[in-house]
Amino acid sequence: MQIHHDIAGLRAALQGRGPVAFVPTMGNLHEGHLSLVRQAREAVGPQGVVVASIFVNRLQFAPHEDFDQYPRTLERDCELLAGVGCDLVFAPSEKELYPEPQGYKVQPPAELADILEGHFRPGFFTGVSTVVAKLFNIVQPQLAVFGKKDYQQLMVIRRMVQQMALPIRILGGETCRNEAGLALSSRNGYLSEAQKADALLLSRTLRALIARWQAGERDLPAMEAEALQTLREAGWQPDYVVLRRQHDLGTPEDGQPLVALAAARLGSTRLIDNIEA
Ligand code: PAJ
Repeated sequence: MQIHHDIAGLRAALQGRGPVAFVPTMGNLHEGHLSLVRQAREAVGPQGVVVASIFVNRLQFAPHEDFDQYPRTLERDCELLAGVGCDLVFAPSEKELYPEPQGYKVQPPAELADILEGHFRPGFFTGVSTVVAKLFNIVQPQLAVFGKKDYQQLMVIRRMVQQMALPIRILGGETCRNEAGLALSSRNGYLSEAQKADALLLSRTLRALIARWQAGERDLPAMEAEALQTLREAGWQPDYVVLRRQHDLGTPEDGQPLVALAAARLGSTRLIDNIEA
């Protein structure tokens, strides 16, 4: 497996090679990331090239967020990637990817990017879309894999590719969880063991919301308010707990595929999760 820190080196290494499958990450890799790399390998076949990027993207962090604290574990990440059939790692420095302030940005449509995550993290999806578009231009993949763990992010990327006519197939990867059901996340490393047990309440609250809908309850504002209350009473600071339709994250109607989504702070750690139904 090759590791490249500069754009020119990566481009030279990809020159004349087979179809490229790409998995962008911010590093501190866990089984969730690795499952996406395996999916990329599967999709592109043995002749294809699997590229993973590792870059903690300052553009998608607000000033008060954990950019400086975000775990950087490049050596271990590369060992893990080599073990799952990754061919090339692109791990640029900030200077390499943003040699000057990134004035050109990709701004996703408000109806998708200003709700839920985007409402509580203004500018987040502009930061994500900008870096992903830039990485797509550098790596020029035929396909790219994103996790459903970041459900809205996957939607934003799919829409960008569609609306900008980028010739890239986007695949969604299922959310990996630990044995107890906690969605794997690099931010889980901020949690104590006791908090990791408490963190299960997030997915449990989502499942309870879905169960009530499936049992026929339809007073969604009341159901969502109670879900928020459940978390607050357990000491969480929730941003949102909602039930939406999968298609466009609009208000659900009978017979449509649904997704329950939540974001909440446990102590100082912000966690997100979602469950499809
Ligand atoms: P990061 O949080 O490192 O996640 C990289 C990819 O791994 C994303 O597609 C994310 O959805 C996926 N992922 C994270 N946890 C997962 C889990 N438990 N199961 C399955 N997939 C999981 O998302 C980002 O980085 C950044 O926003 C990025 C797209 C790299 C742009 O900077």
